[in-house]
Amino acid sequence: MAVATTTTPKSSNGQDQQQQENKHSILHNLAYSILHNLACSILILLLLLLVAGCLVIWLQVHPKRLHYTIEDAVVHDFAISSAIDPKRNRTEERLRATFLVNFSAHNENRKVVIHYESINMRVEYDDQVLAYGPVEPFVLAGRSNHSFCSSIAAADVTLLPSVGTGLKKIKEPSDTVKMNVTLLSWAGVVVPHWRTERRRLTVVCRDVTAHFPSNTTSSVKSDCYVDL
Ligand SMILES: *[C@@H]1O[C@H](CO)[C@@H](O)[C@H](O)[C@H]1NC(C)=O
Ligand SMILES: *[C@@H]1O[C@H](CO)[C@@H](O)[C@H](O)[C@H]1NC(C)=O
Ligand SMILES: *[C@@H]1O[C@H](CO)[C@@H](O)[C@H](O)[C@H]1NC(C)=O
Ligand SMILES: *[C@@H]1O[C@H](CO)[C@@H](O)[C@H](O)[C@H]1NC(C)=O
Ligand SMILES: *[C@@H]1O[C@H](CO)[C@@H](O)[C@H](O)[C@H]1NC(C)=O
Repeated sequence: MAVATTTTPKSSNGQDQQQQENKHSILHNLAYSILHNLACSILILLLLLLVAGCLVIWLQVHPKRLHYTIEDAVVHDFAISSAIDPKRNRTEERLRATFLVNFSAHNENRKVVIHYESINMRVEYDDQVLAYGPVEPFVLAGRSNHSFCSSIAAADVTLLPSVGTGLKKIKEPSDTVKMNVTLLSWAGVVVPHWRTERRRLTVVCRDVTAHFPSNTTSSVKSDCYVDL
């Protein structure tokens, strides 16, 4: 019994110590796991914020495509003349014409504004440039449409033989003229209160059907490809 009485407090002492140690380590583990969870939560929150921030920036920097269409294209004062080139001693065709093109631009982006600095329009027929000239710059506001019209002239442009042959076949006013129209521009792509980026902006309208002014029934719309 004496042995038993002496051993029980000893063992209870040992158990107390053990229990205290256990408590201590449980508390320690608890505190550790709370801290760990907190750290993980904060880290995850930071990551989410970072991803959200990147998404917002990405959405603003990569605007939705702009849509351009040609509503109408008309060829005024169309005339082809033949002349002899004294240097080469052969006949050449020369073109005089004025190209009037009505565009419509549509900006779907609410947060992106396009400030044009300069725009030039180019008219091509079978890869020969017939006319090139400036267009009045404008501001394309967010979520808006803008219609504009450009008129450029070909003044006695010497035609490549194949182009001359093609254009001479065109009969006014029943025929139409198929041409490629390109807008080449410099623009500020502006996200208000945030940033402005200067970009080259190209609008390509392939195989546009242009008609003569006396025949408005042959007017055809065409879609353009925008490269921002
Ligand atoms: C130009 O070519 C024609 C024939 O195509 C020829 O009769 C004429 O002599 C040539 N003139 C000159 C200046 O070479
Ligand atoms: C094209 O623009 C001209 C000049 O602004 C205008 O007179 C004409 O009616 C327009 N045509 C179309 C189809 O919008
Ligand atoms: C327009 O451009 C395309 C591609 O460059 C070409 O295949 C087509 O023949 C051109 N059309 C005209 C009318 O020049
Ligand atoms: C702007 O143009 C687009 C097509 O380019 C059209 O769907 C939209 O209805 C137009 N919006 C206005 C306000 O004219
Ligand atoms: C107008 O153009 C259409 C299509 O190109 C053609 O069928 C029609 O004969 C033209 N009208 C006149 C009066 O030339």
